[in-house]
Amino acid sequence: MATSFWHPFANMSDVKDNSFTVARAEGNYIFDSNDRAYFDATASLWYANAGYGRKEIVDAIKRQAEVLACYSTFGDITNEPAEELAEFVAQRSPMANSKVFFVSGGGDAIETAAKLARKFFVESGQSDRTVIVSRKDSYHGTHGFGTSLAGIEPNRMGWGQLMPDVALVDRDDPEDLMRLANSLGRDKIAAIFVEPVIGAGGVHLPTDGYLERIRQITKEIGALMIVDSVICGFGRLGYWFGPERFGVVPDMITFAKGITSGYVPLGGVVISGEVSDPFFNGGATFRHGPTYAGHPLATAAGVANCHYLESEGLIARGEALESKLKDALDASSDSPLIEEVRGGLGLLGALEFSQERRKSDPSVMARVQMEMRSRGFLVRPLVSSIAVSPPLSATEEEIERLGSAFVDALKAADR
Ligand SMILES: Cc1ncc(COP(=O)(O)O)c(C=O)c1O
Repeated sequence: MATSFWHPFANMSDVKDNSFTVARAEGNYIFDSNDRAYFDATASLWYANAGYGRKEIVDAIKRQAEVLACYSTFGDITNEPAEELAEFVAQRSPMANSKVFFVSGGGDAIETAAKLARKFFVESGQSDRTVIVSRKDSYHGTHGFGTSLAGIEPNRMGWGQLMPDVALVDRDDPEDLMRLANSLGRDKIAAIFVEPVIGAGGVHLPTDGYLERIRQITKEIGALMIVDSVICGFGRLGYWFGPERFGVVPDMITFAKGITSGYVPLGGVVISGEVSDPFFNGGATFRHGPTYAGHPLATAAGVANCHYLESEGLIARGEALESKLKDALDASSDSPLIEEVRGGLGLLGALEFSQERRKSDPSVMARVQMEMRSRGFLVRPLVSSIAVSPPLSATEEEIERLGSAFVDALKAADR
């Protein structure tokens, strides 16, 4: 029977009769309906940082479900896990006097940060400062702002009129932001969103000094720097958020995914004391927030997951394993299908496929993905590359096996 389930980012004409059921998951592996194990080299969608089935997290979710499974936090209402997680996140934030706004996922976090940037300037008497900037190849989700800011062109096109007052800048050259500011007027830019390492756009590392220079420019022109750490947070780069790695202190950080390792959907924004001040001390109200903001089950999962990441030493593994992963991927650099190997900054990487081969053989990346699957490894085609981002609990031996499997799969898929 044809499925009623419409998959995200899927060609349903193909997928409707040809889907892959994940039946269960344990540690760094997922299992299909025949109980065949696969090493999850993608940590699902870049989020299972702790791995699967961690008892500490599952038990905390169960306990919370029994005590208080749900309740709103609008107005003056709060709950213990939301308070505890906000405090935990604020304590580890690189910004002074941070506040934390919870939402349901990364796209919500982007909406929140973009609206808050504009609202902050309204409250600060600069209501003309409305332009929100993003970088080519960046990905900030699929909501209104995220779609308008999409650096991956096909994600931005075909929806009619999108959000006004947005602009794209070069991916790698920070001076492009300065050029934009000079052409629009230095008092027009409200904020720029920056992924420390661009994830869904194909794993693009920042050029030397990129984030540091963006910080300088934003200060010079009076705009906010919003670091989108939806992928790069919670250990993916070896730190709680990611910008710490570059010694950069932004004005806001968006997060999701790794905060709960995906056990329950949760996202949020960390906001500097300065940006939150008009709201915490000046009487302004931020008329914004999704129904499930501060959801107790999600925040309880977040507390348990963060403690797990900390007590198991998993945060640092994002950096400790990065060279191992890059070496494993480099083993494929000789393949005629591969043009470039990217990685070496955090536990994520990508194999860029030859443009010529993709043109003459459009199914080549999908074939490599399936060759990897048949060898027991889940990997993900993205734009013109295949990306990996294993759980932070991955072992060196698993990463080595991933590298060898790629070598074999590329050979098998080469026609
Ligand atoms: C950097 C970044 N920002 C935002 C998002 C959107 O998050 P969500 O899919 O939870 O809405 C994603 C999702 O992959 C992301 O990678």
